[in-house]
Amino acid sequence: MAFTKIASQSDLPALNEAREFSCAGKEICIANVNGAYRAIDNICLHQGGPLGQGMIEDGKIVCPWHGWQWDPVSGEAAHNPRAKLNVYPLKIENGEVLIEI
Ligand code: FES
Repeated sequence: MAFTKIASQSDLPALNEAREFSCAGKEICIANVNGAYRAIDNICLHQGGPLGQGMIEDGKIVCPWHGWQWDPVSGEAAHNPRAKLNVYPLKIENGEVLIEI
């Protein structure tokens, strides 16, 4: 695992918004949750909805398709912790956004 550039800092989503990115052959959602940037798999485990097109509500990423809510820190679904997405460490250096993937 190594830190890999996923985006420029200027591409990051606004406060309490999410956005989709590609990195290392994967689709990644970066969410700005109350000012903290979180990187999580973009593909919802329910039916594959794109989390990066979802909303942030009460600190959770809400899938735009059927509303499953995902914890951006643990990667767990709010209603079922056994449903768990990968989350990735994220850092910003010199205007670049890097995730460990
Ligand atoms: S695909 Fe995400 S809630 Fe259904």
